[in-house]
Amino acid sequence: MDILSRIQLHREEEQRLAWEGTFAEYLDILRDRPFVAQSAHSRVYNMIKDAGISEKNGQKVYHFFSDQIFGLEESIERLVEEYFHPAAKRLDVRKRILLLMGPVSGGKSTLVTMLKRGLEQYTKTPAGAVYAIKGCPMHEDPLHLIPQNLRKEFFNDYGIRVEGSLSPLNTMRLEHEYDSRIEDVMVERVFFSEDKRTGIGTFSPSDPKSQDIADLTGSIDFSTIAEYGSESDPRAYRFDGELNKANRGMMEFQEMLKCDEKFLWHLLSLTQEGNFKAGRFALISADELIVAHTNESEYRSFIANKKNEALHSRIIVMGVPYNLKVSEEEKIYAKMISESDMSHVHIAPHALRVAATFSVLTRLKDSKKQGMDLLKKMRLYDGEIVEGFNHVDLEELQKEFADEGMSGIDPRYVINRISSAIIRKETPSINALDVLRSLKDGLDHHASISKEDKERFINFISAARKEYDDIAKKEVQKAFVYSYEESAKTLMDNYLDNVEAYCNKNKLRDPLTGEEMSPDEKLMRSIEEQIGISENAKKAFREEILIRISAYARKGKKFDYNSHERLREAIQKKLFADLKDVVKITTSSKTPDESQLKKINEVIARLVDEHGYNTTSANELLRYVGSLLNR
Ligand SMILES: Nc1ncnc2c1ncn2[C@@H]1O[C@H](COP(=O)(O)OP(=O)(O)OP(=O)(O)O)[C@@H](O)[C@H]1O
Ligand SMILES: [Mg+2]
Repeated sequence: MDILSRIQLHREEEQRLAWEGTFAEYLDILRDRPFVAQSAHSRVYNMIKDAGISEKNGQKVYHFFSDQIFGLEESIERLVEEYFHPAAKRLDVRKRILLLMGPVSGGKSTLVTMLKRGLEQYTKTPAGAVYAIKGCPMHEDPLHLIPQNLRKEFFNDYGIRVEGSLSPLNTMRLEHEYDSRIEDVMVERVFFSEDKRTGIGTFSPSDPKSQDIADLTGSIDFSTIAEYGSESDPRAYRFDGELNKANRGMMEFQEMLKCDEKFLWHLLSLTQEGNFKAGRFALISADELIVAHTNESEYRSFIANKKNEALHSRIIVMGVPYNLKVSEEEKIYAKMISESDMSHVHIAPHALRVAATFSVLTRLKDSKKQGMDLLKKMRLYDGEIVEGFNHVDLEELQKEFADEGMSGIDPRYVINRISSAIIRKETPSINALDVLRSLKDGLDHHASISKEDKERFINFISAARKEYDDIAKKEVQKAFVYSYEESAKTLMDNYLDNVEAYCNKNKLRDPLTGEEMSPDEKLMRSIEEQIGISENAKKAFREEILIRISAYARKGKKFDYNSHERLREAIQKKLFADLKDVVKITTSSKTPDESQLKKINEVIARLVDEHGYNTTSANELLRYVGSLLNR
């Protein structure tokens, strides 16, 4: 569909959703759908819940966040269950300011932005609909019109609890415009929009000297004082501060702790009674979620200051540490690249993986657990199986340090280094080594890395590199075998035939000549030696395999290449060992002959077709593996 028709559809949709009517008509809506009168916190919670919740490895996954935020499932679960859910139930936490605390570029702003954009969409749905007194700059809840002494009755009748009192402006409008007839007051459906300053606000402190509290709570409109006669006439006041505009929805408080104290004090009554003071008016009831974010050191100095005690107790702090799972970290980079102007660049397989390995390592803390090291810990965290450790160990590791993930390399650094690697290269194609090199070079210019950290980080780059070397070798060797799986299977079948004959003291029959022959000891040993099985241990190993085969047969399961871990490893190593010389010579020859050239082209084609390389990165990979094998 072209853009103009889309624009038209969009307009029609807006017209279709629009509604206005009298307060009496609004009450009819509430009869049918009392949930539209929910509080701001409840709406946010329902928005998150309505997007769906599933469970993965005992961990709740909130779909609302899951396509943009990776690896923070635990923090998000805590956020929802300890803040949004109780706040939705009108428990006291809802009055507190939600403060997300975490290291730089850890996804705090992304989280808040998702909530804001999410609310804008949600208020367009039936479940998220919001109604307000028409023409009110604060989109005040129409139910505030119900006098205090009738609210109990209203609750009995509608099951809806009304909190907060009618604002000074609407009190006056009710009298002047509607002759105090509440039932006639016009109500309209509103749609949150940060651009239109409806229901979503952002407050960002500027220079403390010039910043005015009016930015938060609005100000007198001097041009209208003459008309209304007095500064305390609410019609002479502009209710256009961020707190006003964010009423019914949410306000993001950027850099809250950098803010001048007088601003913070203003939040005290808001966080205590759910109202705030503007101008010379009675307190204004506010129904909004306030989210702020900060880093750890700023937070520490804030709580160290005794003067902040009162406010401190009115803040709910939620940690948002870095993601600690390598595979999720890869997704973060892939997302950031796809959103950037690097999205056309070919990123060779494993390039993001090595970067993720490096950054996760910098975030982990050394465990005291016996036999544990950072690499193992990293694998366990990522859900891999690590010999000798189980899920109990994993849980213990996760509890060992409360502040793990609060420091280390941030995703933005990695993306910056990837983009500088891209700029340095002539072709729009980068590989794992380019990325590692760039990460390392960047450490010299990184502002906040100490000398010790730098040394540690360089070691992590080496560790990531070592991992990559193994992967690269395996990938190339596999690509050299015409059909890797098939060759492995043939070799294994051959081995098993011989093992069977050996254990049963039988002869084998040569498939070509039909001649009887003894089991091929040389073949069997050449495979077993790959995994260090000694001459003395060979019999036990062979018998163990036969037992495994018959156990499989009894259960009607097929014994194949993947049924025995060590055997699979032995077969793979044997295949690679046979190939090693071919690979070595072919990949490192400066002037390949015709048959070598043919082989190289075949391998490159396979890497491109089956493994996600392009010709540039496949050539680079071959050259690199050639140099590794020649070391
Ligand atoms: N866990 C994560 N999942 C998805 N994206 C992430 C994650 N962590 C960081 N990012 C990405 O990293 C970038 C920086 O994140 P963001 O701006 O949200 O961090 P921040 O915590 O607000 O940082 P700062 O303290 O610098 O303001 C964004 O592009 C964001 O998408
Ligand atoms: Mg931010």
